Amino acid sequence: MRKTQVGIVGAGPAGLFLAHLLRKAGVEAVVLEARTREYLETSPHRIRAGVLEWGTREMVARAGVGDRMVQEGLGHGGIYLAFDGQLLHLDFHALAGRGIWVYGQQYLVTDMIRHHLEAGGEILFSHEVVGVEDLEEAPTLVYCTPDGRLEELRCEFAVGADGSHSLARKSIPGIQVHQKTYPYAWLGILAQTRPAAEELIYASHPRGFALFSMRSPTLARNYLQVAPEERLEAWPDERIWEELDLRLSGVAEVQPGPILEKSLTPMRSLVVEPMQHGRFFLVGDAAHVVPPTGAKGMNLAFCDVAVLYRALVAFYNEGEASLLARYTQEALRHVWQAELFSYWMTTLLHTAADPFEDRLREAKLRHLGESLHLQRFLAENYVGLHTSGRYTHYIPQST
Ligand code: PHB
Repeated sequence: MRKTQVGIVGAGPAGLFLAHLLRKAGVEAVVLEARTREYLETSPHRIRAGVLEWGTREMVARAGVGDRMVQEGLGHGGIYLAFDGQLLHLDFHALAGRGIWVYGQQYLVTDMIRHHLEAGGEILFSHEVVGVEDLEEAPTLVYCTPDGRLEELRCEFAVGADGSHSLARKSIPGIQVHQKTYPYAWLGILAQTRPAAEELIYASHPRGFALFSMRSPTLARNYLQVAPEERLEAWPDERIWEELDLRLSGVAEVQPGPILEKSLTPMRSLVVEPMQHGRFFLVGDAAHVVPPTGAKGMNLAFCDVAVLYRALVAFYNEGEASLLARYTQEALRHVWQAELFSYWMTTLLHTAADPFEDRLREAKLRHLGESLHLQRFLAENYVGLHTSGRYTHYIPQST
């Protein structure tokens, strides 16, 4: 049976970042990933988040995996909110002293895989973990090799970073799941055209919410609020562009272009407690899911990793186990902060079926338009002052 110090389930942003940091700290980590490298790097289904909080960008740069992110990413000083036929600019630098960085999750995953492998790190692609055993003494990952054999990796610690449909999560005895499902979904497109504006526009319209984002100056990433049971076939390209244009209410212009990808994303919030058992820990979407409206998902994964990384290094370097024992307690602070903000943004911007609720929502939007206090609340949360902003110094500056 193979052995390692830290076994990691999943080569997403959380698993890769942790593996990379541990290797640099001299701790051996093995990543087991069910999919192929090609799938992770190029599958259109992998097009995910695109907004990094300033603290996440800082952590990635400090860890030495941010070369392409810095070169090709876009620095944004704020966002726009469109409602009541107006466009409100929120200047994050003025409101919160920080900005954000636009860079696709898929690109970051590609970069981290390359850096980790080039530095001699180990990622076993097409190795699917099918069970986790002995969580308290020596967590053991049972996995299926590409040729169908069942093998085991015995670890000093193991980490479940296997995403929102996590199998790892199910191995924690007595775990509690707190969750909420929203009565809408997002239809997302990636299109070869210039974005609607130089920064993101979050548009609240009586026909439903729409988001105008981007991946580059020539790649637009847009979303429409749709019913949860909606089917992609009901949305030919022309209908999507028409609807995006309607919901923008003339405050900016969408330029239709070739649509490279279409997807539907259900909207839910989920938090599990505890995020650990014995020598086994959960990070990222395996432990919590946020609706995408606050752009928090990937940022939270980096927060978890910063906290767990510091605790593991304290254990390996100083024999200090108390930070590991407090992992859930420390992580749940940023997790619930981001859950709160994501819920707030989501319910603020999406039309509700209940007319009373919807009028309240409109009143909230108008209040936000007039209240510097509320704008600060949004800006501080969006740039992540209380999430990734708290952890940048946990990551050693690489030389
Ligand atoms: C995206 O660009 O995909 C994106 C941006 C902001 C969000 C969600 C998604 O809140």
